[in-house]
Amino acid sequence: MADTARRHAELVARIRDANHRYYQLDAPDITDAEYDLLLRELEALETAHPQLVQANSPSQRVGDAPSGKFAQVRHALPMLSLANAFSDTEVAEFVERIERETGDDLPAFSVEPKLDGLAISLRYEHGMFVRGATRGDGSTGEDVTANLRTVKSIPMQLATGLFPPEVLEVRGEIIMPRADFEAYNARARAEGRKPLANPRNGAAGSLRQLDAAVTAQRPLTFYAYALGEVQGADLPATHSQTLQWLRQLGFPVSPEVGTAAGLTGLLAYYKSIGERRDGLPYDIDGVVYKLDRFDRQQEMGFVSRAPRWAIAHKFPAEEARTTVEAIEVNVGRTGAVTPWVQMTPVQVGGVTVSRATLHNADQIARLDVRVGDSVIIRRAGDVIPEVVRVVESARRPPDSVPWQMPAHCPDCGSAIEREAGEVVARCTGGLFCPAQRVQAVVHFASRRAMDIEGLGERFAQDLVTFGLIQTVADLYRLQVADFLEMKRRADARDDSTPATVKAGKIADKWAQNLVAAIEASRNTTLERLLFALGISDVGESTAKTLARHFGSLDALMAADEAALQQVPDIGPVVAAHILHFFAQSHNREVIAELRAHGVRWTEGAPQRASDGPLSGKTVVLTGALESMSRDEAGAKLEALGARVSGSVSKKTALLIAGQAAGSKLAKAQDLGLEVWDEAQLLAFLAAQ
Ligand code: IVH
Repeated sequence: MADTARRHAELVARIRDANHRYYQLDAPDITDAEYDLLLRELEALETAHPQLVQANSPSQRVGDAPSGKFAQVRHALPMLSLANAFSDTEVAEFVERIERETGDDLPAFSVEPKLDGLAISLRYEHGMFVRGATRGDGSTGEDVTANLRTVKSIPMQLATGLFPPEVLEVRGEIIMPRADFEAYNARARAEGRKPLANPRNGAAGSLRQLDAAVTAQRPLTFYAYALGEVQGADLPATHSQTLQWLRQLGFPVSPEVGTAAGLTGLLAYYKSIGERRDGLPYDIDGVVYKLDRFDRQQEMGFVSRAPRWAIAHKFPAEEARTTVEAIEVNVGRTGAVTPWVQMTPVQVGGVTVSRATLHNADQIARLDVRVGDSVIIRRAGDVIPEVVRVVESARRPPDSVPWQMPAHCPDCGSAIEREAGEVVARCTGGLFCPAQRVQAVVHFASRRAMDIEGLGERFAQDLVTFGLIQTVADLYRLQVADFLEMKRRADARDDSTPATVKAGKIADKWAQNLVAAIEASRNTTLERLLFALGISDVGESTAKTLARHFGSLDALMAADEAALQQVPDIGPVVAAHILHFFAQSHNREVIAELRAHGVRWTEGAPQRASDGPLSGKTVVLTGALESMSRDEAGAKLEALGARVSGSVSKKTALLIAGQAAGSKLAKAQDLGLEVWDEAQLLAFLAAQ
């Protein structure tokens, strides 16, 4: 029992401290997931030992007491918290409980994104905004009226017509949209000010400024999701209808809200929002299910800090804390040196990771990451995990020093240099550097370049390491015996020679396949070849433009700066890279050797901008098409002279929107651009 009491006291102190950091200092030192775990442990302990519960235990409260910076506001109705579910089973238990207690089968729910910001309550009297407050500890919050008046999406007057309710409290979340957060931080960094840690802290910190003029400078948005006190209004019978009504009154309600029935409906919503999470304009940390009928909500009632008729279904945490074990650098195809950290493996975004990128030396300096540091890492969607910040309160070994970019390339020993004005440091070894050679081979062989199936990073590495190839042209010399030699040496090095090989049996089907794949790549197109060469800044779309404009490799190699700059979308920087590439004798030699080894590419007459019906027009494809893939549609449009681009801008002539088109469609509509659906596209193509 003494141990239990000690652990309880420990948890209470730890959670109090975390609350203080989160709510008052806007500088949390643990992740949300760690916080949830502590709180769960505390709750479990208190359920098992009710005598430990104290009135002011963090388990009984939803946030933190007001800071004293602002006047206090007592909420007419307390602002509650939500219970969390971290698994489908927990959601199933929630639904079963409701079905059992209300007698409804397949109850309807309002389903909503769980916005990751700061909860506030807005009070309207006779239709006018009179006061706004933070949640505070749930019963008393802070009066942030002046700051809320600067948030443009909050109506100052209700759109009710002649008879507004006497009192209407609307509750919702103040958030900072992701794009605004990024833009704010980019400017802050450029001006040498402190960037915001994440959108949520940005929203909370901005709202709790003492000077409303500062808040007014911050890009905050509001979304409504609940009511507080109401007097003198007839409310609808369900929560989802109430959200509609709030929309009519002028409140923004997330376009992602909807309704769903029963467990299957809830889990389908969770899945669909999860898939769209990265594309949403704001951060969410889960979804919320609310029993839709108000009379049923009343039947279900409340427990101490949360309603029993609602639950938050959390996504796997995207942030986690771990320790930096080493800081290394990677050398890319163009020599760019990227620092990354080796860290103690940790679960984040649903997978275990042990490496995170640090992007560049500036980022390391800004974060001041050192070996031994405790860091918060983040992995959103398929994005490579990155270090977000160092946890300042964690102890740093006394002998640690700021990390420095090595002076020499770890792969070839050449100097690492960083040109003035560039953020990226580069190994100056060029194709002398094995790391760059390996990456050049990987890129050359990749699917959208020469498409040599089976030739990935590992084989490219071994071929270069064992000196079987020097350049990409050498690939075309390789025989089955060379690959077997490579494998034999790699196995010997890794001490992994298979028993069958030791017994004298050599499998060589894989090597035959590789040789065949290389053989098959001998016939290609000019655009693929140009892309495969790996000229800096010449991606797939530029390669295509160049191929079409010049028609042949010889014509491109003969082009001077003026000729290059006439190509649509080629600016001085890309032109310089192209000139530089073809000026280097070793690159010209590689091309000559490719030809000598029988590599052939389609060459044709140059096609200039005025040739097709879509010539000179930039077209963007978005959403899913039913009759073909976006790539296929793009190729057809390009054949008609269009330039296909990935992003919408004023220069876009046409947007083709398939199913579930999102932000690009919205942007095109904002800009008043021409938009076609798939049927219009097909009709146009058929007419050509
Ligand atoms: S309803 C009685 N709906 O989550 C329930 N809350 O963990 C009151 N939140 O304090 C909250 N999105 O800050 C509700 N669609 C949503 C929400 C949401 C985010 C936040 C809110 C609340 C916290 C509870």
